[in-house]
Amino acid sequence: MEKFIIEGGRPLNGSVGISGSKNSVLPILAASLLIKGKCTIYNVPHLSDVYTMIDLLRYYGADIKEGIALEIDCTDIDNRPANDKAKNIRASFLIVGALLGRFKKVSMHMPGGCSIGLRPVDLHLKGFCCLGAVHSFEKGIITIEYDRLRGNEIYLDFPSVGATENIMLASVLAEGTTVISNCAIEPEIVDLADFLNSAGADIKGAGSDTIVINGTDALHGTEHNIIPDRIEAGTFMLAVAGTGGCCRIKNVICDHIKPVILKLREIDAEVKEEDNSVIVASDGRLPNTDIKTMPYPGFPTDMQAIFMSIMAKGIGTGIVNETVFENRFMHVGELARMGANITVEGRTAVVKGVDMLKGANVKATDLRAGAGLVLSGLCAEGITEIGEIQYIDRGYEKIEEKIRQLGGKIERVRS
Ligand code: EPZ
Repeated sequence: MEKFIIEGGRPLNGSVGISGSKNSVLPILAASLLIKGKCTIYNVPHLSDVYTMIDLLRYYGADIKEGIALEIDCTDIDNRPANDKAKNIRASFLIVGALLGRFKKVSMHMPGGCSIGLRPVDLHLKGFCCLGAVHSFEKGIITIEYDRLRGNEIYLDFPSVGATENIMLASVLAEGTTVISNCAIEPEIVDLADFLNSAGADIKGAGSDTIVINGTDALHGTEHNIIPDRIEAGTFMLAVAGTGGCCRIKNVICDHIKPVILKLREIDAEVKEEDNSVIVASDGRLPNTDIKTMPYPGFPTDMQAIFMSIMAKGIGTGIVNETVFENRFMHVGELARMGANITVEGRTAVVKGVDMLKGANVKATDLRAGAGLVLSGLCAEGITEIGEIQYIDRGYEKIEEKIRQLGGKIERVRS
């Protein structure tokens, strides 16, 4: 196992480039299963979740060449029994929607991923059922089958990102028109629709709360450039805010991370938006504020633990309200080891800022909690050791190299 050793108390200065979006590339990799032809995908981040998804695609027979870009040809794929690997990541369930476009019967393990909540797939299954499929469960494996997949009107009780993506994938080759109402409007949904449309799909309305998909007969090979990772961008913006310093964060679409930009200004950090980058400057001592996570364009739930890690040493008290996931405060116990003063009541946390966090031995409990601990280690006095960093590697490409590039002191060691 590996761990990070961080020596805190150093301001971050300089510039850093943001990688491609994990939450965009994963559904697009799943979508490539629908396409009989070669897809070339640029700006793919080197993350463990991406490698897991590539392994799964190869299991079904995808021909994949890894290089500067990812070349994927799913012309000759086979339908296979459920693969255990699918239990390791949440996005594996998106393979179901894509395979339904190629095969009439698909089996898949219930998805895995971070333990931030129950993470049911009832809305995904509701969508498949509306399209004419039936499903059954046995030993943790879901089997979905149909005679004919026909377009329909589907209402999502919650604007679920994954359910929106999965229903889109299952609809693009279905007969007729599918309308998804109350769907997710995250930038990753738009990127997926752009990818599918460039391959010959007919999807309108992505980025709004109603998406219309007119089924087509087949999709063809295409090229696509993955959008920048807005959560990685937000992570580095908050890192500078917490440690103090001034950094240019490059390869950023500012509109995608507006809530973090506006919240940083609310706590007196300076934020300057440029064409495809953002400059953040701060003295490291920031007044606390309140945050409430909401589906896009609200404050991202994926930024909650990361924002809390700098609130822990903010001035005054801030309230954190996590409305999207039911178990996303696992980082609070680890922050307490560093001297944070945080109380949790249900989905609300009260963060009383302390003058200084103290380095300690902590462990990542999930991807974004782990990223938050990296930031609290960078802000703390002394040495922080973070275990279970495999969680962090799921969503951050070369995070320690990027932090060192900005003057932070962090090493990856075998524990
Ligand atoms: C995606 O997860 C992201 N993952 C998550 O990022 C992100 O936190 C989440 O969207 C919300 O933005 C990927 O894109 C791979 P949801 P997803 O379906 O699709 C409930 C990260 O750190 N729900 O929008 O699983 C669910 O329980 C990860 O990068 C149902 O009830 O999120 C949750 O409470 C973490 N039934 C809420 O909706 C369903 O069928 C949001 O889930 C589906 C979801």
